[in-house]
Amino acid sequence: MGHGIAQLLAMAGFEVTLVDVSDEALRRAMDKIAWSLGKLAEKRRVKEEEVNVIKSRIRATVNLEEAVKEADFVVEAVPEDLELKKRVFSAIDKAAPKHAILATNTSSLSITELSKVTRRPDKVVGVHFFNPPVLMELVEVVKGDYTSDETVNVTLELTRKLGKKPILVKKDVRGFIVNRVLLSMFNDVCWAIHRGEAAMEAVDATIKYKAGLLMGAFELADYLGLDVAYSVSKVIEEAYGGRAKTCPLLEKLIKEGKLGQKTGAGFYDWSVGRPRIPFHLAGKFDVQRVYSVAVNEAAWLIHEGVAEPNDIDTAMKLGAAWPSGPCELGDRIGLDVVISKLKELYAKHGAEMYKPCPLLEEYVSKGWLGRKSGRGFYSYG
Ligand code: 3HC
Repeated sequence: MGHGIAQLLAMAGFEVTLVDVSDEALRRAMDKIAWSLGKLAEKRRVKEEEVNVIKSRIRATVNLEEAVKEADFVVEAVPEDLELKKRVFSAIDKAAPKHAILATNTSSLSITELSKVTRRPDKVVGVHFFNPPVLMELVEVVKGDYTSDETVNVTLELTRKLGKKPILVKKDVRGFIVNRVLLSMFNDVCWAIHRGEAAMEAVDATIKYKAGLLMGAFELADYLGLDVAYSVSKVIEEAYGGRAKTCPLLEKLIKEGKLGQKTGAGFYDWSVGRPRIPFHLAGKFDVQRVYSVAVNEAAWLIHEGVAEPNDIDTAMKLGAAWPSGPCELGDRIGLDVVISKLKELYAKHGAEMYKPCPLLEEYVSKGWLGRKSGRGFYSYG
């Protein structure tokens, strides 16, 4: 993620210093930036003559203090470990100028907790990019308890300069918006294959060719890294308990050293490139089930005051390339149908993740069933 964010900043004209723990890691990062810029030039999204100019705006170093001493804006993107992030944040805080904003590209951790290790909690903010950052249009901007409005405004403005659509996450909850919805779906399908209810390829074929997502759930987990998926899942599980129970399959694969695309194997074998998801298996998994858990999680986000339906839908469309957002989907399918599906799953598996959110129950009891009744998450004229 770090190299993708550095590339975006350089493409927008900023001077960037990229920091990592070794020269080897920095070399790999610069190679990936060069590859990505080459692809963008090939597609005429960047002018050929600009490629070297963009690259020249990025300096690479292993010296963190040196890198941040004149920075106006610092984006931390180290692995998803709160203690590690706290150490890095504390070091950045000591070395960066007083006016600098310190942003974290955390996928799930608390912005407020991180801000407490600095002497400038008002200048600490979450900027959550999506993989690959160069192509995904969304950035979740997350306000911690102490983040000032000025910090939020500067951050929103900066993300717009990068050509992104920022969405302000109203509460510093674990997993923010997109990872909460993605994980609800991933947990369900992961448990489904763990219980032997379905084959992985059938699930992914259904998600890709029936639901119209660009990647299957297991393909996406491999693409992001199973270590990343696991740490996000654990953070969300810690916050929400049984509603977000991590599937043991994930831990098993990690123990075997299968972290996904980056290690050549995860759920799939990536040694010869992106897995081919067999088209003929589309529909061999219940697509309504995939939708229902996602709609339920969207309802929880609204219920908890984290986001409004419109922001959730935009976030899923721009951050994970979903053709429709979960609230739009729920209204289209019918919220009564969604609740029936959840209840059916709960009766069968007794797992808390299938319990309908009270907000959904309330909507249905009021007759707000979605498009067909003129009112659901949205109103229809
Ligand atoms: N820079 C430039 N070009 C890139 C690129 C990059 N970083 N990554 C991929 N491309 C190019 C590919 O090389 C390919 O070019 P080609 O046509 O010349 O071969 C082109 O983009 C299209 O890629 P593909 O043909 O491989 O496949 P897709 O059409 O499926 O696009 C994708 C790839 C953009 C990754 C798309 O599959 C996608 O949007 N998938 C969903 C990703 C997603 O959900 N991301 C969010 C995950 S959650 C997250 O990140 C949060 C974190 O906290 C965990």
